[in-house]
Amino acid sequence: MLEIKILTAYPEIFPGALGHSILGKALEEKKWSLDIVNLHDFGIDERKNIDDEPFGGGPGMVIRADVVENALLSIDYPKDLKRLLIYLTPSGRPLKQSNLLEFIEFNQLIILCGRFEGVDARVIDSLGFKEISIGDYVLAGGEVAAQVLVEGCVRLLPGVLGRSESILEESFSKNLLEYPQYTKPHKWEKKEVPDLLLSGDHAKIKHWRLTQSEDITRRRRPDLWEKYKKNK
Ligand code: ADE
Repeated sequence: MLEIKILTAYPEIFPGALGHSILGKALEEKKWSLDIVNLHDFGIDERKNIDDEPFGGGPGMVIRADVVENALLSIDYPKDLKRLLIYLTPSGRPLKQSNLLEFIEFNQLIILCGRFEGVDARVIDSLGFKEISIGDYVLAGGEVAAQVLVEGCVRLLPGVLGRSESILEESFSKNLLEYPQYTKPHKWEKKEVPDLLLSGDHAKIKHWRLTQSEDITRRRRPDLWEKYKKNK
């Protein structure tokens, strides 16, 4: 079972999206587990501070290294467990589908959500947190990003999605975006579904879908298109 532990100053944001649909069902079925660790439980001094002003000046507050360390030490870590520490920050390496496949090989993912101006850099380095960004934009904190990352991981776990083929065919699996899909009604607002999809000729349908995927990828994502052509 994949154990997910979230370190956050805003525990009430969870489970959020992670408690619904296939993810919520898989959680109930114990295909994965979710524990939320409240950084405020590890606040320092009588005021239970978890953050302080940045050395060198500047706006905002920085989450303290000792708070993060103590929160992490409160989590059980049996020796034979494969654990990965992730810190969500816009300064991290961009998250890719291939990372999700790597992450689910671990038994325990510890995910630290940044807030304010971030987290003291020393604790990120010393404890070996992998710094990950979910995209080139800045959110108010790492909590929503954590839900994105966990959702992406959990749906890849065996038995979570109905049909395992749907993982093999989906966007990014071969550096291609997905082809367009259609369903009933056959005619909608004068627009008909492409005839070929009704032909029952599976080889032709497969070829049509591939060319659609290629066209879409070339137009929308020249970066992926270059990789696709190299590996083709
Ligand atoms: N925290 C704020 N913005 C973020 C981003 N883009 N990715 C990950 N964590 C974040």
